[in-house]
Amino acid sequence: MNVALGVTGAIAAYKVCELTRLMVREGWAVRVIPTPRALDFVGEITWRTLSQHPVASDAFARGEDWKPRHIELATWCDLMVVAPCSANTLAKLAHGLADNLLTQTALACTRPLVLAPAMNAAMWAHPATQANAETLKARGATLLDPEAGELACGVRGTGRLPEPVAMMETLRAFAARGEDAR
Ligand SMILES: Cc1cc2nc3c(=O)[nH]c(=O)nc-3n(C[C@H](O)[C@H](O)[C@H](O)COP(=O)(O)O)c2cc1C
Repeated sequence: MNVALGVTGAIAAYKVCELTRLMVREGWAVRVIPTPRALDFVGEITWRTLSQHPVASDAFARGEDWKPRHIELATWCDLMVVAPCSANTLAKLAHGLADNLLTQTALACTRPLVLAPAMNAAMWAHPATQANAETLKARGATLLDPEAGELACGVRGTGRLPEPVAMMETLRAFAARGEDAR
C-alpha cells in the first residue's frame, strides 16, 4: 500500500514517528508530508530516515520532475492519512484550503482520507472544530477520534492522539479493502 502521511504542527507528531516505523515494517511505501509548522516539532531528517524516503514538504521546491508534487503524491497514494491533524489543518481541509503541500495534496486526492485530530481538549470541544470534523465525516473522511486522558499541555480531557498500534489496526482495514478491490 502506498501511503501519503501528512503530519501537522501538533505536539503528538512524535508519536507518528512510531506509526511511520510500523507502516514501513508492514511493507507499505510511505511518503511523509509535514507542514512547515510540523517541522518545528519533528525534523525532516527524522521523517526521511524513518520513512526510508526523501520528504516532500515544499510545494514550490525546484526538482527534476515536471509534475507538481501535490498531484504526483495525490495520484501515487492508495490512502492519505493526516496524523496528528491539528485544529488548523482540520479547518483548512473542511473548507478546501490549499496553502501548503499537505492541504494541496489532500484536495487533489481521490483516495480514502483518514484524519487523526489531536489537540488541547478545549480546542477539540470548540464548536468550530466539531463542525469541521462533522463536515469532513459527511464528505467521507474517516476520523480516528481523539482519546481522553492526560494531555501534553498539562490538562486532562479529550484530545490525545490514539496509540500508534491502535491506529495501525484501522489502517490495516483500509489495506485489506484495497487488496479485495484488486
Ligand atoms: C508547543 C505547541 C504545541 C501545539 N500543539 C498543538 C496540538 O497538539 N494540536 C493543535 O491543533 N495545535 C497545536 N498547536 C498549534 C499549532 O501548531 C498551530 O495552530 C499551527 O498553526 C498549526 O499549523 P499546521 O496545521 O499548518 O501544521 C501547538 C502549538 C505549540 C506552540
